[in-house]
Amino acid sequence: MSIADCDFIQLPRFADVRGDLVVAEGNIHVPFDIKRVYYLCGVPQGAARGGHGHKELRQLLIAVSGSFDAVLDDGFERKRVTLSDPGRGLLICPMIWRELENFSSGAVCLVLASMAYDERDYYRDYDSFLTAAKENIP
Ligand code: TYD
Repeated sequence: MSIADCDFIQLPRFADVRGDLVVAEGNIHVPFDIKRVYYLCGVPQGAARGGHGHKELRQLLIAVSGSFDAVLDDGFERKRVTLSDPGRGLLICPMIWRELENFSSGAVCLVLASMAYDERDYYRDYDSFLTAAKENIP
C-alpha cells in the first residue's frame, strides 16, 4: 500500500432546494464494510489529530463541515491534501501514517472505518511505523 492508493472518492449527492443529501453505503460507494463511525469535532485552531498509522484498518474521511488538511506518509513519500467537500471522501489504506491539521473553525471530520476499534492495529510511534513500512518492500 502506498499513498498512490489513497485517493478521493466521489459520493452520490442529491441536491435540491431543501439542501444536499450525500450517501455513503458500505461495499457500494465505500470500498469496504463499514464497521464503525466516529467523528472529530470542536478541534481548536492550531491543534492536530491523527499522528498514527494502522496495520489493517481502512478509512474514509469526509469533511462534513468546514475543512482540514490530511498529511499522508507511506514511509517513502508524503502528500498533503485538503478536505473541504462533504461530497468527497478521502480513502486511507492500511500502513499510512496520517496527520490531520489546519482545521477550520467548526470543521467536522467524519470517519467511516472498516474495523472495530482495536489499539493493537495502531502504530503510535513514527519510527516503529517507518521500520514496518520499509520492511514491506517487496
Ligand atoms: P486518538 O487515537 O488519540 O485520536 P486521533 O484519531 O486524533 O489520533 O483517540 C482519542 C481517544 O479516543 C483514545 O483514548 C482512543 C479513543 N477511541 C475510541 O475509544 N474508539 C475509537 O474508535 C477511536 C478512533 C478512538
